[in-house]
Amino acid sequence: MSEVVELAEAERRSRELAAILPARISPPFTGTFIRSATLYDEYVLRLTLGIFRATGLAKAVQTPSTLDELIARVGFEPGRARVPVDWMLRRLSHRGIVEQSDAEGGPRFRLRGELPELDPAEILEAQRQQDGSWQPSYVLAETVAQDYPAFLRGERTGEEILFSPSRLRLWVNFFSNDNGLYVVNNLVGAAAVVELLPPAPVTIMELGGGLGSGAAALLDELRRSGRLGDVREYRFTELVPFFMRRGQQALEARFPDVSFLKFGALDMNRPFAEQGIVPGSVSLVYAVNTLHVARDLDSTLREIFGALAPGGRLVVSECIRTAPTQAIYIEFIFNLMETFRSPVLHPTYRPNGGFLAPEEWQSAMEAAGFVEVRMLPDIPSLRARFPHFQVGAVGATRRG
Ligand SMILES: C[S@@+](CC[C@H](N)C(=O)[O-])C[C@H]1O[C@@H](n2cnc3c(N)ncnc32)[C@H](O)[C@@H]1O
Repeated sequence: MSEVVELAEAERRSRELAAILPARISPPFTGTFIRSATLYDEYVLRLTLGIFRATGLAKAVQTPSTLDELIARVGFEPGRARVPVDWMLRRLSHRGIVEQSDAEGGPRFRLRGELPELDPAEILEAQRQQDGSWQPSYVLAETVAQDYPAFLRGERTGEEILFSPSRLRLWVNFFSNDNGLYVVNNLVGAAAVVELLPPAPVTIMELGGGLGSGAAALLDELRRSGRLGDVREYRFTELVPFFMRRGQQALEARFPDVSFLKFGALDMNRPFAEQGIVPGSVSLVYAVNTLHVARDLDSTLREIFGALAPGGRLVVSECIRTAPTQAIYIEFIFNLMETFRSPVLHPTYRPNGGFLAPEEWQSAMEAAGFVEVRMLPDIPSLRARFPHFQVGAVGATRRG
């Protein structure tokens, strides 16, 4: 059964959330946002069914099989296919289309009946009527879905599919405050900074600043709360030159009156000091949906710790996994990226690639030496009632 909720129910949930979320965090979680999130989840599920048909997975899973047996039977490239196929099977199990039974040698999956025929276009139309600003997220998912079979068979890498020059425009539209799906990450992150940062002069360094939408939302929020005057420097950093250029252009056009913006390349997987970051020189490190693609999270967190002055803060806004096997809709896209699927693992705080759970963020930050790790909103206290509330900021301090 579809999990799409009607607007009245979404508005009821929005009111329920507003009563428990911190006042600064709750505004983006409107009824429209909540309904749109369920529509997008359904859209991605329908695209997944199309991939099952196109690749032969639908037929292969008629026989009870483990993940590896399925991958071998349809001739996928195991190194690439394990994570996304596992994700698709979990998504379809959750929806009751595939049955999952625990057996020796790992869970076995079996199609429960006929694979349902569900048209993604219906959902796209419902979304258009609800809120057209989600369109870039639909275009991205649809584009990726077309190339999924070639990716799973090992004919093309995910990076080629996602970042070919002709597709960069898709990212400009996706990582944007005009994209109803993406903007919430930036609003929650900006609200968390204002909430967690003591009012005092601040030197900010953003990691993976991309196309600048996170920085723009943060600077807007600092201005709104009368704190923009505290900013001594905003060092916007990014790895990919195209994103960096576009991010810089966007920020300079939007904030022509500020003199504190600085731009520089930074690879969070390499020592910061050798990239020009003076140890102890930063009072806030900020990142939106970036740290989960660090190759070795522990080493990146230690670099951040070293860049911070004593008493300095780290604030990250991240998509958060609220249950260990939860399949989050946006992973459908990012599972194509090697850096997303296969970071250096750690048994406690990095048991798998992709997004982290609240406890994993806490242990990872504490292991790197941070104290006062705090999550905004407090997802652990929300997740029983709102298992799909998956956006949160995590703040931590380098002891003074
Ligand atoms: C979710 S995006 C951030 C989007 C950004 N907040 C915006 O508004 O456009 C994550 C960013 O991390 C960057 N990134 C990926 N690997 C990186 C690395 N090793 N070092 C620094 N940045 C990296 C990506 O290029 C991308 O721009």
